Amino acid sequence: MKLKQTFIDFMLHHQERHKRSYNFLVLLEAIQTAAKYIQYLYKTGSLKNIMGEAGITNVQGENVMEMDDIANAIVLHYLRRSNQVICAVTEEEAEPVKLNEDGGRYFIYFDPLDGSSNIRHNLPVGFMFAVAKRNLSGPEDLHLRKGADFRAAGIFLIPTGVFTIALANTGVFRFHQDETMTYVIPENSERLIIPDDPKRWELSFNASNTKAFSKNVQSWIEKHESKHSFRYLGALAGDFHRLLSNGGMFMYPAIVNHPKPEKNRPNGKLRLLYEAAVTAFIAREAGGIAIDEEGNDILDITPRYPHQRTALYVGSSPLVESIRKQLINKG
Ligand code: AHG
Ligand code: MN
Ligand code: MN
Repeated sequence: MKLKQTFIDFMLHHQERHKRSYNFLVLLEAIQTAAKYIQYLYKTGSLKNIMGEAGITNVQGENVMEMDDIANAIVLHYLRRSNQVICAVTEEEAEPVKLNEDGGRYFIYFDPLDGSSNIRHNLPVGFMFAVAKRNLSGPEDLHLRKGADFRAAGIFLIPTGVFTIALANTGVFRFHQDETMTYVIPENSERLIIPDDPKRWELSFNASNTKAFSKNVQSWIEKHESKHSFRYLGALAGDFHRLLSNGGMFMYPAIVNHPKPEKNRPNGKLRLLYEAAVTAFIAREAGGIAIDEEGNDILDITPRYPHQRTALYVGSSPLVESIRKQLINKG
């Protein structure tokens, strides 16, 4: 009988190969336990009547779904129990949550349930996270880390049961749940690289916003739209998952020409720390790139506050570079 390598086994060997501590392993074990529990509840959620609204809005003024709340509580519980996390930033809490101020070695930034509008349709959502390390050689000032300083970032696709993780300077790897809900790596599976065949590339963005994008983004779209298929699930976790397999570009540009000016979003919609930078970090490890509306690399942006938003263009380098040129030249 041929047994597949589990995620934890994979990580154990990774840590040993690089002569690293097991703390990171303990943290990842907590994260995957949380993901599995969210997945279990999500799959049976309609039977438990937990797929509706929670009746409150979060710090960002968005309606919170009951599953958003549940997923957040699950992740925080397992992170706290792991004793590895000094401080966590989650989409669902206004302030960073201090967990293990003395012993914790890691910062974690997460979106416990990405793609909330899919919940009531039982469509795929995601749990996205990034991990950074505290300063171990001196005092720690708790500043928010930029993507370039992340040690890892990952996305659990729920309830699909696929887990993608990027490890700093190592690559991107994909694990699938087996019959026992254990994440295992398929045989002969290699580090994931975004395909460089333009014929496979797809574009992913909310096309109903097109007229509200800047004129130079609109003209880029006009030039490129006939060359690629469009795909949009409405959950960054899922849309980006597909982009990694096929190549192309996901974008959520700044909204600057909305007919109701109060609905403009000059800083975009997505959150830098636990959405944009997560995809940027994974993209980098898969050979891709991510930029904001000014053409800055997302990984180089030091967050000023936990829920900072940013426009996002992420995917195959040639496509992202071509829109960067357009953004910088302002047309
Ligand atoms: P969340 O559900 O965590 O608030 O994130 C929603 C985000 C992201 O997942 C998705 O790509 C985007 O919002 C979709 O926005 P539109 O509905 O404006 O297209
Ligand atoms: Mn989200
Ligand atoms: Mn969310």
